[in-house]
Amino acid sequence: MRINLANSEIVVEDEHGERRLALDTPEAFAVLSDAWVRSGWANRHSYTFTWFGRPVIQLPSDLMRLQELVWQLRPDVILETGIAHGGSLVFSAGLCRLLGHGRVIGVDIEIRAHNRQAIEAHDFASEITMIEGDSVAPHIVDRVRALIKPSESVLLMLDSNHSKAHVLAELEAYAPLIKPGGSIIVADGLMDGLVELPGAKDDWSWNNPKAAIADFLERHREFEKASPPSLFNERGVADGGSHWPGGYLRRIA
Ligand SMILES: C[S@@+](CC[C@H](N)C(=O)[O-])C[C@H]1O[C@@H](n2cnc3c(N)ncnc32)[C@H](O)[C@@H]1O
Repeated sequence: MRINLANSEIVVEDEHGERRLALDTPEAFAVLSDAWVRSGWANRHSYTFTWFGRPVIQLPSDLMRLQELVWQLRPDVILETGIAHGGSLVFSAGLCRLLGHGRVIGVDIEIRAHNRQAIEAHDFASEITMIEGDSVAPHIVDRVRALIKPSESVLLMLDSNHSKAHVLAELEAYAPLIKPGGSIIVADGLMDGLVELPGAKDDWSWNNPKAAIADFLERHREFEKASPPSLFNERGVADGGSHWPGGYLRRIA
């Protein structure tokens, strides 16, 4: 795809021919958002933020959507796979603190000593429980389940190993914790759109979280794809600038 940018429009050339799109159209916004996300990914833009002192490997726009979902659902537990430096745990824990409700459980295959120390010393540590281990290992899944009462509502956020098999196994392991009306966020649904970029792998075209979601939804009619939360959207514009496209699921039955 080739994009020529002028003051008030873009000219897009791709396999469908040439399109002129005024900048104030949703189509132009979608094309430019996609280009921005791809360039941002290639430049590791999501590796430039901290939340209350901890590196958080997310785009701010995705964190805003997470915040909207937490506000809407007020879950008893936010369960996250993939801790890294702890920024997303601290983000969710801070929301729980502000709401005066909820706590966070994080799982990571390797919690480095300096990260553990910083998270345990953090102002929001009292809202956080960390478990070290492979998020799909049966004994780890059992440990997580043991921390959650059957009556508690869970918001699940998957951001660990993004291979199709792993994400599918995580969904199978933890989706039963979600009650009707509850949600799952699967991060990094953008991977199939990155394959031509330096740093991406060829198998990302099929070996990705989106493919895991498709298989999961085939087997689990009690879940459906959901849009990102949209509590305020003056012009009804589709979400742009996300690493989580197609990553929202809702339990409907
Ligand atoms: C993208 S980072 C998580 C970023 C974090 N959620 C944030 O927003 O800052 C992915 C993490 O997943 C962890 N991970 C990789 N494979 C895993 C597995 N099988 N089980 C649990 N965690 C895993 C890695 O150790 C890494 O810390």
